[in-house]
Amino acid sequence: MSKNYKITLLPGDGIGGEIIQVAVAVLEAIAPKFDLSFQFEAALVGGAAIDATGQPLPSETLTVCQQSDAILLAAVGGHKWDTLPSELRPEQALLGLRAGLGLFANLRPAKVLPQLIDASSLKKEIVEGVDILVVRELTGGIYFGKPKGIFTDEHGMRRGVNTMAYTEPEIDRIAKVAYTAAMKRQGILCSVDKANVLEVSQLWRERVTNLAADYPNVKLSHMYVDNAAMQLLRYPKQFDVIVTGNLFGDILSDAAAMLTGSIGMLPSASLGEPNTPGVFEPVHGSAPDIAGKDLANPLAQVLSAAMMLRYGLNEAAAADYIETAVMQLLDSGKRTGDIMAVGCQQVGCQAMGAALLEFLSSGL
Ligand code: IPM
Ligand code: MG
Repeated sequence: MSKNYKITLLPGDGIGGEIIQVAVAVLEAIAPKFDLSFQFEAALVGGAAIDATGQPLPSETLTVCQQSDAILLAAVGGHKWDTLPSELRPEQALLGLRAGLGLFANLRPAKVLPQLIDASSLKKEIVEGVDILVVRELTGGIYFGKPKGIFTDEHGMRRGVNTMAYTEPEIDRIAKVAYTAAMKRQGILCSVDKANVLEVSQLWRERVTNLAADYPNVKLSHMYVDNAAMQLLRYPKQFDVIVTGNLFGDILSDAAAMLTGSIGMLPSASLGEPNTPGVFEPVHGSAPDIAGKDLANPLAQVLSAAMMLRYGLNEAAAADYIETAVMQLLDSGKRTGDIMAVGCQQVGCQAMGAALLEFLSSGL
């Protein structure tokens, strides 16, 4: 009996529909080989949902997501919705999904691929071999802390307020995810905070340090966030796993992504408690400027589907298979415009997908 998984597809906006189609074709292609079957259901999110329902994350979408085994998301946003008030903007859907599904752990790998080393804006010696996993806390910290808002005092002066707060259990659970990830990698964990200034960071540092005894094979270090930003550019190879809060993780994961120079290749996973559905999505955005032109790179979406298999469905062999095929595809010299290099052959989104399917069906 094959294992059946219910997958919610959230194509969203811009290039979303084009790239998610490739990922679905890939999942369908590998399913029989691993005795899997997928039941896909698409739902509205982001600008597409705003146009249809007035809401970036309609409650039906959240319900479908909650009832599935995993969610494959493409990207949301576009110029069309840029002038809406912030609570009605497409990006709000991401925050709603994170809160609604309890996705407290965001895994953002930034791996420099040998085939794409020249795409980085940094010197080859600096980025060669870089393989970093940023573990970002995603449902707490300054994004969600209370009080928040714009308040007017008795003199009529307005004051914008956000609160950076973490409870001990919130810190412990994200730290455990990071330690566990480090154990499966090089065993090096760097916790990033601002403990020289912020009390919330002092508690963070204390809790992360306390847990170290449970993971004797992991080497823990701490770094202030400003120094971490500098070290990422100076000597990125010193990092294996970075664990940090919501805002610092937002910023550092973009910096880490850029080390690779190929943001069109980077997947991510957002996970909640065990046995609850996670969201798997590319790091890149909806790229409205190239939408509908068959120019998008579908590989971050495909690699997000691989992360879904690995972290969301516990199907590591199927994930390995897809990742190997993607490496072979790059070795073959086919490139979309964003990762084009001298001597390679430029193809569109669909042709890239078709070529990948050939590698997958060849048995590798
Ligand atoms: C990200 C994005 C989001 C964030 C925005 C779009 C809400 O920058 O996923 O990193 O800040 O978390
Ligand atoms: Mg961001």
